[in-house]
Amino acid sequence: MKILVINGPNINMLGIREIDIYGKETYENLLQSLHTIGLEENIEIEHFQSNHEGNIVDIIQKSYNNVDGIVINPAAYTHTSIATLDALKAVNLPTVEVHISKVSKREDFRQTNFIRDFAIKSYEGYGIDGYKKAIIYLKKYLEEQV
Ligand code: DQA
Repeated sequence: MKILVINGPNINMLGIREIDIYGKETYENLLQSLHTIGLEENIEIEHFQSNHEGNIVDIIQKSYNNVDGIVINPAAYTHTSIATLDALKAVNLPTVEVHISKVSKREDFRQTNFIRDFAIKSYEGYGIDGYKKAIIYLKKYLEEQV
């Protein structure tokens, strides 16, 4: 089983950016924890991060016929990017959405979410543990499809 984890803009600044909101765990900690989850759950985990919308569209398109499912934190593109939604719809893979912060309880401008309705499940407000929850949920979902 192969899962692609995609992180959008500024997620590479974890541990530096707005620690009161996103916590002290660093981006390196996140990558390490993805590696550990992959070993524990026996899943091949591919990770991609970009600060550029088109790169995120490109990696989603490349996932077609290459991965079994997607875990995505589109970060600010959650609230702006129809292109990301369209790419996800195009490849039509089971997709779980993650947000480190409790985004539904934050500013009004974060309440527009182009991804949520497409995602089979969303996790928000669990810090970097949300990625683990998302991967385990997606693994179970994929196992049940077989
Ligand atoms: C975020 C929430 C978004 O609103 C924000 O733009 C981010 C991170 C989160 O993980 O909580 O960059 O997706």
